[in-house]
Amino acid sequence: MLHAVVMAGGSGTRFWPKSRRNRPKQLLRLYGDATMLQQTVARIAPLVTPERTLIITGSDQADAVRAQLPQLPPENVVAEPCPRDTGPCVGLAAEIVARKDADGTMIVMPADHVIEPREKFLTTVSAAVSVIDADPSAFVTFGIKPTHPETGYGYIERGEALPSKAGIALHRVAQFREKPDRETAERFLAEGRFAWNSGIFVWRARAILDALQTHRPVLAAALDRVGQALGTADEEETVAREYPLMEKVPIDKAVMEKATNVRVLEVVYDWNDVGDWRALTALVPPDDQGNTTQGKVFANDTTGSIIVSDDGGVIATLGVDDLVIVQSGGATLVARKDQLDKLKALVEGLDKGG
Ligand code: GDD
Ligand code: MG
Repeated sequence: MLHAVVMAGGSGTRFWPKSRRNRPKQLLRLYGDATMLQQTVARIAPLVTPERTLIITGSDQADAVRAQLPQLPPENVVAEPCPRDTGPCVGLAAEIVARKDADGTMIVMPADHVIEPREKFLTTVSAAVSVIDADPSAFVTFGIKPTHPETGYGYIERGEALPSKAGIALHRVAQFREKPDRETAERFLAEGRFAWNSGIFVWRARAILDALQTHRPVLAAALDRVGQALGTADEEETVAREYPLMEKVPIDKAVMEKATNVRVLEVVYDWNDVGDWRALTALVPPDDQGNTTQGKVFANDTTGSIIVSDDGGVIATLGVDDLVIVQSGGATLVARKDQLDKLKALVEGLDKGG
């Protein structure tokens, strides 16, 4: 059976000041009526019941997550005592799934991406599940056609073509490389055989645990101790003891770069990983001056800007271009659009300075 695992432990810096440490991107309503997390769960709901949907999040966000997803059994929102990146997160989810359903397949999803339209996404997921049903030891990735030498993504090199599934191209993966440097990314882009990893994976829980056992035995042993304690009186104490000692590693590095039985399906839907405020331009149609605004905004003689008033207050601009202005929770950001890559460092500096 298919289980859904939503990774929702990221902390918010790139949407400051709307996102804060305990109110990260996935818990925000950045556009539309629902939060990113609610949209992620709703997207997969036609294929997975609430009982088979797991959210792995930080202990500081667990209550907010349960409040946003009242349809889920509360115990399906699993709280990590501290963030250890996606390797332990996926491993913990796989322990939970494998102990409930020995042959269970899981789809692992980030909580903070925009995917449209839903029907095409669901077709792709069904194709991935049929790949796994035919070969339970395989790992399925979802490849996006790259547009620029982005260094913040994983790259997937297509190998031998396999028969397509439900009209969606399927290949063996020759190589998976997480976040290459600029030069390598440029080379990958030029070679034309590479896709971006979209961050969604489909595999058997047992298969990913076996791969962790092969490639990260120390981490796998810790996960196994946690798995054995699940549902017993020792659960909380075991998680609290084991988790902080686990290796902090993304699943992309821990397993995907090393696994041999990886497949890639060509993504046929629109995808946006909503990296920072600039992504809003793709989600909210800009006005005829190229400004994307939310809330009470009066942009006079202003072009190419992203302006968000989240507090109900008025923001008025005059004669400025290419700015990002965001007022939220009693804080204001004013930045040049081309400087947003430095926002993370700025916010971390603010944190240190109190
Ligand atoms: N529970 C939990 N615990 N969730 C976590 C943790 C953690 O310690 N760390 C990250 N997450 C969640 C994030 O909230 C996000 O939803 C998801 O896991 C992915 O983590 P990111 O930190 O956003 O990863 P990334 O964007 O740098 O890279 C991944 O996604 C790219 C596509 O957006 C990789 O899979 C790349 O290969 C991929 O290209
Ligand atoms: Mg991400």
